[in-house]
Amino acid sequence: MAHPFNLVETPLSLTYGIVFAALILLYVAKISSFKQRCLDRIPTIGGPSYPVFSYIGAFRFVRGAKALVQQGYSRYRGGVFKIARPDRWLVVVTGSKLMEEFRTAPDDVLSFVEATNDTLAISYTLGPNIRENEYHIGIIRGQLTRNLGYAFDGMHDEVVAAFGDEIRPQGNEWVAVPALDAMSVVVCRASNRAFVGLPLCRKREYVDLCIGFTIDVALGAFIINMFPTFLRPLVGSILTRVPKAIKKGVEHLGPVIEDRIEKMQENGKDWAQKPKDMITWLIEEAQGEERSVRNWALRILTVNFAAIHTSSTSFTHALFHLAANPQFIQPLREEVEDIVNKEGWSRASLQKMRRIDSFLKESMRYNGMGCLSMTRKALKPFTFSDGTVIPPGVYVNAAQTATHHDEEYYADPDVFDGLRFAEEEGQNMKHHLISTANDYVPFGHGKHACPGRFFAANTMKTMLAHLVLTYDVKMENEGVRPPDRWFGPASGPNATAKVLFRKRQL
Ligand code: HEM
Ligand SMILES: *[C@@H]1O[C@H](CO)[C@@H](O)[C@H](O)[C@H]1NC(C)=O
Ligand SMILES: *[C@@H]1O[C@H](CO)[C@@H](O)[C@H](O)[C@H]1NC(C)=O
Repeated sequence: MAHPFNLVETPLSLTYGIVFAALILLYVAKISSFKQRCLDRIPTIGGPSYPVFSYIGAFRFVRGAKALVQQGYSRYRGGVFKIARPDRWLVVVTGSKLMEEFRTAPDDVLSFVEATNDTLAISYTLGPNIRENEYHIGIIRGQLTRNLGYAFDGMHDEVVAAFGDEIRPQGNEWVAVPALDAMSVVVCRASNRAFVGLPLCRKREYVDLCIGFTIDVALGAFIINMFPTFLRPLVGSILTRVPKAIKKGVEHLGPVIEDRIEKMQENGKDWAQKPKDMITWLIEEAQGEERSVRNWALRILTVNFAAIHTSSTSFTHALFHLAANPQFIQPLREEVEDIVNKEGWSRASLQKMRRIDSFLKESMRYNGMGCLSMTRKALKPFTFSDGTVIPPGVYVNAAQTATHHDEEYYADPDVFDGLRFAEEEGQNMKHHLISTANDYVPFGHGKHACPGRFFAANTMKTMLAHLVLTYDVKMENEGVRPPDRWFGPASGPNATAKVLFRKRQL
């Protein structure tokens, strides 16, 4: 006779046995899958590479991504290595040869769109239309870039006015200015002078909205991505600030857009005084359902999303370098003065400012926006010339910080030399801020290299040229550059540090 408890025990232990065997089978299936076999051949940095155990590495990645990538770069330079993230494997490509293969890989194999679609949870933040119809990118690359000369006077005027409003030293006094906040306002006003024009580009609430929008979307995406797919639409609409921000954007932009449509209808296609700005171009180019006030406003916000945070963090990095190394002020000032005295302010004179250009380029080399760049998602297996196969589902990146501090590409790479790229006189475009390369990736490189970089360079150069002509600067803690902030693989300048400004004395 069975013990009464056996009636219970037998089926239970059987159930445990079956579950356990199934788990082992699943695990074996997983580690012997095509994906895992490909991944096994790629060396791992930061921890074990088996499923589940890889979370150890993922944890280390969140804590200190920069050091992990540097470790992998030093050990496997010229090859690839992988790092676990909480949600996925990330493969890092190093060396010019593999970088060249990486950046020229077709979109349907290593996809830029799918990677940003995932990381920004675009379907639930900006909305799927932004990816399905990317007509704003053509406008940035085309009309916006072609009209930089035309738009120069307005942009310069806005830079001067915005600096004047944000930084007001009296007499010979030094004033302490929270650098990132102030530079975000200047960048936002100057950029929106070209996107939407006066008076909206100066309206405080609109400026704050545009500056905050990047954070709203990035933080929103971060929250959304912590939830399973079926909950994401709900999370996107109730747990993030994005829908509210879009609504406010429509309130600010709606009347301007409606007014423009009216004027364009009244005055016809070839209206001589037609403002050449983002609003006009979006109205001219939009097709089908994109032709609505809400969708036009959303495009303007999307362009701001790509433009403001990137340019203001990059400029603040440069400002910290300048304030911590004030010996660079004089050579920059001499160059600007010399050119402006001869030719006045224009895009053409700006393009002659090699030292200003070099200073910003060196700053972006030294501190990019993170230790990685150029995220791509593998949709199909991709084979590198060294035989490495990237399986679908995996993310692939360039190693930004490690590459920019590699002495094979840059002499004394850990020294900040603001004039590094200006020495090379002549026409070699390779040394210009807007040029991308396998060893210079702050704007990416290849087909998806930032289409807004000509615009960004134009704005940042105008800002730096105006700054050195108008102010003396130094760090609060003299000669000491505040350390960067890091969150996983992303970095930014210290957000609270102040720079001291006074009216130029010499
Ligand atoms: C210093 C400022 C900027 C930096 C550092 C920067 C950086 C980047 C990077 C790294 C990428 C991705 C490249 C890749 O993965 O290959 C990118 C893409 C992009 N950027 Fe910028 N950017 C800046 C300014 C701007 C501005 C001012 C605009 C708009 C006027 C803009 C619009 C875009 C757009 C639309 C894309 C997506 C391109 C695509 O889908 O193919 N960016 N940017
Ligand atoms: C983007 O992500 C959404 C949801 O996560 C998905 O449905 C869609 O297929 C993805 N790709 C594109 C190009 O939108
Ligand atoms: C940023 O700078 C401020 C002032 O210099 C300093 O007190 C603070 O600790 C810095 N923050 C970080 C994260 O380095």
